[in-house]
Amino acid sequence: MQKLLLKNIKQLLQVRAEALKPINGLSMKELPLIENAWLAIEEGRFADYGSMSDFPGISDWKGLDVLDCTGQIVMPCYADSHTHIVYAGNREAEFVDRINGLSYEAIAQRGGGILNSAALLQQTSENELFDQSRERLHEIIRLGTGAVEIKSGYGLNLESELKMLRVIKRLKEETPIPIKATFLGAHALPQAYKTNKAAYIKLITETMLPAIAAEQLADYIDVFCENGYFTAEETIHILNAGKHYHLKGKVHAEQLSHSGGIAAGVACGAISVDHLEYCTKADMQLLQQAQTIPTILPGAAFFLNLPLPPARQLIEHNLPVAFASDYNPGSSPCGNMNLIMSLGCIQYKLSPEEMINACTINSAAAMDVLNEVGSITLGKRANFIITKPISSYAYIPYAFGNAPIEAVYINGLKF
Ligand code: NIG
Ligand code: FE
Repeated sequence: MQKLLLKNIKQLLQVRAEALKPINGLSMKELPLIENAWLAIEEGRFADYGSMSDFPGISDWKGLDVLDCTGQIVMPCYADSHTHIVYAGNREAEFVDRINGLSYEAIAQRGGGILNSAALLQQTSENELFDQSRERLHEIIRLGTGAVEIKSGYGLNLESELKMLRVIKRLKEETPIPIKATFLGAHALPQAYKTNKAAYIKLITETMLPAIAAEQLADYIDVFCENGYFTAEETIHILNAGKHYHLKGKVHAEQLSHSGGIAAGVACGAISVDHLEYCTKADMQLLQQAQTIPTILPGAAFFLNLPLPPARQLIEHNLPVAFASDYNPGSSPCGNMNLIMSLGCIQYKLSPEEMINACTINSAAAMDVLNEVGSITLGKRANFIITKPISSYAYIPYAFGNAPIEAVYINGLKF
């Protein structure tokens, strides 16, 4: 039985006796911590913790590994509740096109964008796709991510959507962190359906969904609700179809225009609505009546030079705001949650405490893994970050572009 003791921890962050609900509004400013702490891990889970000043005897622990964390901060791993890390190749040519003046929408209209990634993925074998995706998954775990949601949506036909979801299933089976799979068939309209959107939606609801459900390949269903993609009405129709297969909804909402994705998500009891650049006051009032978690993806807003989503106003409406990476080849080719923390502090003016809550507890709630991860709570999985020796936890977002991480532990084992 593996046992591990961390002692002399400069600060142990996000310590909560209980953490089963997301953190709302003003409470996001509070980050419970223990100064000069110890932390015990047994069988891959948090077993005990406290202050070094009342450190108990541990003579009964045989085969104990002890880590001296003098000067180092320990915190729960990030939960990244919105990614598209299963993809083939990259889109840096479109990145250069955008630098030269083309918009994301214009690139999509000429058949690039998501359709470009779909064409490449359709030609890529499942094994090759698995290898490329696994590398990205390991990269983000080393950067401190201890739970991740991964979407399909670059397949856009039955065979390739299944291929993506089977890759996610294999990643689930062979990776020690919690992974949630989201079916995003409604990510874009394939060229072949350009003049018959209804037929593609029918393919999603009547062919793809039953096949996915038969293999139990998805936990959630998602729709890109946007001008030129799927309308709010279509979003509701697709999310309701998912409900028949017990898939909860998620929505790519109000990213490029106000398209009604938040209202659609709330109407369908979605677990989260994500992006929110064009979120309005009325949307915030709808969210106040719902359990749906507003999720901001600052990597995509940064990479596409979009207006900033109203993070502060969402918090002022007493909502539990989550942040995630949106790691994908088109709008956020980066899954570094330490950088997401920096963007949240620098661009959105959230405090380091608010950002840690947004990237651990609230993002874990946005993918339904809060019972397992997101805080230092007895019985939760020992998925945690040990920082390098740093002066305070504000150094993590302060040192933007850096990841001051010494080690990441998953289920109590060094990753
Ligand atoms: O979350 N908004 C839609 N989907 C992705 C981008 C997909 C892509 O461009 O490949 C996003 O930003
Ligand atoms: Fe996305």
